[in-house]
Amino acid sequence: MAKSSVISGFYKLPPKERLAIIRDFAGLTEDEVRLLENTGSLPIDLADHMVENVIGVFPEPMGVAGNFQINGKDYLIPMATEEPSVIAAASYAAKMVRDGGGFHTSSTAPVMIGQIQVVKIKDAETAKKQVLDAKVDILKKANDQDPVLNSFGGGAKDLDARVIETSLGEMLIVHLYVDCRDAMGANAVNTMCEAVAPFISQLTGGQVYLRIISNLAVKRLAKAQCIVPKEAIGGQSVVEGIVYASVFAAADPYRAATHNKGIMNGIAAVLLATGNDHRAIEAGAHAYAALNKAYTSLSNWTINSNGDLVGEMELPMAVGLIGGAVKTHPIARIAMKILGVKSANEFGEVLAAVGLAQNLAALRALSGEGIQRGHMSLHARNIAITAGAKGEQIEAVAELMVSERLVRVDRAKEILEELNKK
Ligand code: MEV
Repeated sequence: MAKSSVISGFYKLPPKERLAIIRDFAGLTEDEVRLLENTGSLPIDLADHMVENVIGVFPEPMGVAGNFQINGKDYLIPMATEEPSVIAAASYAAKMVRDGGGFHTSSTAPVMIGQIQVVKIKDAETAKKQVLDAKVDILKKANDQDPVLNSFGGGAKDLDARVIETSLGEMLIVHLYVDCRDAMGANAVNTMCEAVAPFISQLTGGQVYLRIISNLAVKRLAKAQCIVPKEAIGGQSVVEGIVYASVFAAADPYRAATHNKGIMNGIAAVLLATGNDHRAIEAGAHAYAALNKAYTSLSNWTINSNGDLVGEMELPMAVGLIGGAVKTHPIARIAMKILGVKSANEFGEVLAAVGLAQNLAALRALSGEGIQRGHMSLHARNIAITAGAKGEQIEAVAELMVSERLVRVDRAKEILEELNKK
């Protein structure tokens, strides 16, 4: 009989009973069940309060990248990722940048955009004027929702209205600009959008549907810049290779997607380690890369008059220090402590620097020896583990596979068998 994924009342069960159902459904072994039950530093009760239908936790390796100097301050960067090389690459690039004086960063005020969609309006331009004329009242209604944010100097500061053409006719899109201070802001902004929507509907005679934050946070940008001395990176031809790689990504969306993925390898790892919404930042980054219609590179690398490499990158950075998993997840809290940032702006700037470092390391490897050699030894360790290697066997199996340039599970198993015979 086909198995059904409709499990009545599943969400009401305690995690242990849910896990028992999943064990039967998926045929999990006792070892697999034990692995899920062993939630380590995230207690199951806490996990159960964070999301729905919890049966366990999903551990990821967390490491720390070193060598980062940003605006003269030293940082250790906690990173959670399943991808080998990411943390080592970030540390390596940060060291080269350090030789050129470290990263220099800046950011705008932490302003997020909330969108209110108004449809079925008779005359869009008139509706737009009605909204703009009522700006003071709309902002007041929005700010009444969050006296705490106001007391910290944040809140709804301004608004705008845009008429857009769609396949269902013209729509009025109202943008609420909310200074979120040290919060990521989704809750504050969404609450404000929902609160002002009936008034906007009444003003314009239109119908309001969506009331939600935009992840294309063009008013909340973080910028990182650096200079890498040519001697620190391996000379003139390496600098030149990186500039050619940069120009390639700027001109070609196929390359830009991979180039930007490399940047997000670093940023997403820090976001994950610190319990932030990495999807929001990824969505914002890629949308920002396509803001001028053609999708392009987020970073730019050039040569200065000294022959040194100059890098810069700017991207939306909607991160918070308060609220959500950043505060509730015990490991995220420790990661934030290691990072030692004092404001959401400082956090965003560190993330921009990490992204630029990750990009530098990738371009240096790609324009030189390629990434496979470095990747291979780490990849080989994973393959050795997959084949069943334990302890010292892992390194021995990995080393042999790399030297043979044959990194495959079947080969790892053969090597293991030979090792076990000895
Ligand atoms: C791999 O995870 C990331 C890279 O592909 C990034 C890049 O190509 O720039 C190496």
